[in-house]
Amino acid sequence: MIQLSVNSLSKSFDSIQVLSSLSFHVNKGEFVSVIGPSGSGKSTIFNLIGGMLLPDEGSIMLGEAEISGKRGSISYMPQTPSLMPWRTILQNVLLGQEIMGKTEPETARKMLQKAGLGGYENAFPHELSGGMKQRTAFIRALLSPQPIILLDEPFSALDELTRHDMQKWLLDIWNEHKPTILFVTHNIEEAIYLSDRILILGSKPAKVVQEYTVPFARPRMEEIFLDEKFLECKRSIHHALKELSFKSD
Ligand SMILES: Nc1ncnc2c1ncn2[C@@H]1O[C@H](COP(=O)(O)OP(=O)(O)OP(=O)(O)O)[C@@H](O)[C@H]1O
Ligand SMILES: [Mg+2]
Repeated sequence: MIQLSVNSLSKSFDSIQVLSSLSFHVNKGEFVSVIGPSGSGKSTIFNLIGGMLLPDEGSIMLGEAEISGKRGSISYMPQTPSLMPWRTILQNVLLGQEIMGKTEPETARKMLQKAGLGGYENAFPHELSGGMKQRTAFIRALLSPQPIILLDEPFSALDELTRHDMQKWLLDIWNEHKPTILFVTHNIEEAIYLSDRILILGSKPAKVVQEYTVPFARPRMEEIFLDEKFLECKRSIHHALKELSFKSD
């Protein structure tokens, strides 16, 4: 069942056309990653789906409902985490739930603990490092009750080990609750490890130039990183991205 569909979306900023007739969909319970060169329009797509921007043409459907220009229909973690400085960490992660009328502070505390933020529940954002703020924004997005979660490079500010822990943790949560996730990353291995499908985005204007179905069963074990199929998949995505960067030179 299709949960989100983006249909012939176009968007220009001044005279620069960033998206031209872009279409793709995400099924219910599916984990889809978007990979593409910097500046290709990934965050713009997310801002359109999140209703922060209006498309010039095209439509965005959540199930049967048109959500173009409507905020609050999806759970969204922007590339730069925007935490409310006057709220504590616990109050920040509960924000999405609060808006919808029901908070679960105990679940939130457990998630903070698992993400290495135990003891920081009552701290304020200015007391946290960049990576800690990113994890807080990530938990807020996961806790929000909307049917689809958009994550724009949620792990980019983390060191390699923390990043891997967060990936494993995200997979655990995904296995348990099967939320629909649309995920932006620049990291090919991360995309393969986490996703069901990977969309490779070309730039100027952005369009889906290739689509990969990840050939690994779930639950995913870490051993897949050493699998020959994993390397093959990584190689072909790497080639596709390399060709794109040649084209834009
Ligand atoms: N509000 C805006 N006003 C004008 N131009 C914009 C605006 N937002 C984005 N752009 C332009 O649109 C293009 C796509 O930007 P976007 O942030 O979507 O790229 P991205 O794929 O997310 O890049 P990155 O991987 O670096 O995050 C860029 O050329 C950017 O300058
Ligand atoms: Mg971006």
